[in-house]
Amino acid sequence: MTRVLILGANGGLARHTTDMFLKTTDATLTLYLRRAARLKSPDSKRVRIIDGDVLDAVALTAAMKDQDVVYANLAGDMQRQAEAIIEAMHAAGLKRLVFISSMGIYSEVPGERYRSVLDPYRDSAASIETSDLDYTILRPGWFTQERRNDYQVTQKGEPFKGHDVSLNALSTLIVKLCTTRGLHIRQSLGVSNG
Ligand SMILES: NC(=O)c1ccc[n+]([C@@H]2O[C@H](COP(=O)([O-])OP(=O)(O)OC[C@H]3O[C@@H](n4cnc5c(N)ncnc54)[C@H](OP(=O)(O)O)[C@@H]3O)[C@@H](O)[C@H]2O)c1
Repeated sequence: MTRVLILGANGGLARHTTDMFLKTTDATLTLYLRRAARLKSPDSKRVRIIDGDVLDAVALTAAMKDQDVVYANLAGDMQRQAEAIIEAMHAAGLKRLVFISSMGIYSEVPGERYRSVLDPYRDSAASIETSDLDYTILRPGWFTQERRNDYQVTQKGEPFKGHDVSLNALSTLIVKLCTTRGLHIRQSLGVSNG
């Protein structure tokens, strides 16, 4: 049974993935978010909810106690968030991080140039890549509501394949990464529907 800490748990992708964890695994979940009253626990036996900001080092480190995996589903000042996560994981003795970024951070999407709007994604990925954590960075394409859950991945250094990715496919991959020991460790993966 894997213990997963979900940061930014009120995000659209995080909520979708929480449902998938509950439906397809026996993982226990800690949902960490600002203004926690916005979320109701979907399963009080397996889901704990904690009010907190990722930039609050004390609260974040405390939330990491007795966890196996950190799944970060954030937006905004992502480099500061990444630094805070790395520091808290060190303090808590945790190694495994699944971090949601975006396609385009390495100018890897053929025919597309995403400029400064992606800087927080680039900078946070760079911080994580230089850390000693067992990270997997995901660089998804545009999210869709399609029901399909097939996905293809590309490695850093390869051109991004495809364009869109369904939330179902992305959540399927996130759940697999969090619950399968050693999968795609220290890799940054482009993700789209196949
Ligand atoms: N939509 C797309 O097509 C697409 C494509 C590629 C990548 N992405 C990226 O994938 C990521 C996840 O997507 P999403 O739809 O789940 O995003 P989202 O709905 O914007 O969720 C991001 C979450 O991060 C939380 N957050 C921000 N700063 C925080 C902090 N300091 N402490 C705690 N929580 C904090 C926000 O909390 P609050 O609710 O409290 O503000 C929000 O719930 C985003 O970065 C998004 O840009 C999206």
